[in-house]
Amino acid sequence: MTKVAVIVGSLKKTSLNLAFAKALAKLARPKLELKIVEIGDLPFFNEDLESPLPASVVRFKSEIEAADAVLFVTPEYFRSIPGVLKNAIEWGGRPYGRSSWTGKPGAVAGVTPGTIGTAVAQSHLRSIAPVLDIALISQPELYLSLRPGQINENGEVVDEALKSLLQTFVDRFSAWIDRLKQKPTLQF
Ligand code: FNR
Repeated sequence: MTKVAVIVGSLKKTSLNLAFAKALAKLARPKLELKIVEIGDLPFFNEDLESPLPASVVRFKSEIEAADAVLFVTPEYFRSIPGVLKNAIEWGGRPYGRSSWTGKPGAVAGVTPGTIGTAVAQSHLRSIAPVLDIALISQPELYLSLRPGQINENGEVVDEALKSLLQTFVDRFSAWIDRLKQKPTLQF
């Protein structure tokens, strides 16, 4: 099965984005195996900590490297991505020459109770991804304003329109990953 490392940009226990990521994981099986990768134990990025790498960073990087693709599921904080997510992205890209992101197919999604569906945060993430050689799929875009009742108490997506959008996303992301598996990678 295709393995996808999921990075949730919120550390909140009751995070909407975490709940959404778990619901998406249920819906994506058996085509994609989505596994949430912990980022809450990573220290603030600091070049002074790069040698030796902290155990949490080694664990984080190995989980990314073991996956066929990455999926960022993130809230928007003040019209950008949360600092904890940027911190995780920085650790994944270091030390120099040992980036864990290189050549990974990727995708981005985000949910909010608000109306703009994390569009600005996702746009910022899309400007960061190319320098790390993460190839983000373009469509379908998942800018989601989550309404009560769209995910039930068992953590399943029950809203038919949302379910259909997410199924299209899973199918296209899976095809995108298969396509990029053939791509030669550059290490920098
Ligand atoms: C927010 N929120 C928010 N929402 C939005 O649509 N655009 C924004 O710029 C912001 N900015 C922002 C900053 C900070 C520091 C917080 C805590 C919140 C609201 C945000 O979408 C809402 O709290 C979500 O529920 C956060 O996602 P999680 O943590 O529930 O996954």
